[in-house]
Amino acid sequence: MTTILQILTSPRPNSFSRRIACDVTARLVALHPRAAIIDRDLAADPPPHPDLDLYEAILTPAVGDDDPRFALSERLIGELEAADFVVIGTPMNNFSVPSTLKSWIDHIVRIRRTFRSTPEGKIGQLRDRPVFIVTSHGGYMSGGYQPDFMTDYLRAIFETIGIRQVHFLCADGLSRGPESVERVLVQAKAWIDEHLPI
Ligand SMILES: Cc1cc2nc3c(=O)[nH]c(=O)nc-3n(C[C@H](O)[C@H](O)[C@H](O)COP(=O)(O)O)c2cc1C
Repeated sequence: MTTILQILTSPRPNSFSRRIACDVTARLVALHPRAAIIDRDLAADPPPHPDLDLYEAILTPAVGDDDPRFALSERLIGELEAADFVVIGTPMNNFSVPSTLKSWIDHIVRIRRTFRSTPEGKIGQLRDRPVFIVTSHGGYMSGGYQPDFMTDYLRAIFETIGIRQVHFLCADGLSRGPESVERVLVQAKAWIDEHLPI
């Protein structure tokens, strides 16, 4: 059975990143009709920031994966391991990812579990699979309008744990009026048709 992990981060019910990410998921379901969806809503249920317990568990090599301090980390990693496809919808917040998504990352990128540290660098431990990341931006992402600490960062994070098939659908200019929004929605539909043809 095909499994899709859908991660949404915007707290706005009419969020563009939610809407477009759900369109991507709907297309995957159309292509894989019996697909199961794991919903991970980081706005409704934000993962806690790493606390002292998690720090100590991560920094102590003898601590096993079944330690209770890794319970949430294991649950979130398990969702990722189960997924054949991952769909993420997220706004840009101050040139980077929202803190809720950063917290999720801090739970799933874990030494001795999802990556190994070697003298040559970090080696990802997860099976590669397609990840579709819809990013929403009030401003523009071209023409030097603003820095982008989000796209390369997310690519590096997934690469660290072994996932290289990362595809970005960038929805920008969303605070620039209805015509700009209309253009974005048309472009998003074309992007989905191109990357996930029926
Ligand atoms: C706290 C905060 C920070 C933001 N930072 C940026 C930013 O750095 N660049 C940008 O283009 N838009 C920024 N925005 C605008 C949002 O990215 C934009 O409104 C987006 O559409 C929100 O996503 P959503 O439609 O999925 O809810 C920010 C919005 C908020 C609330």
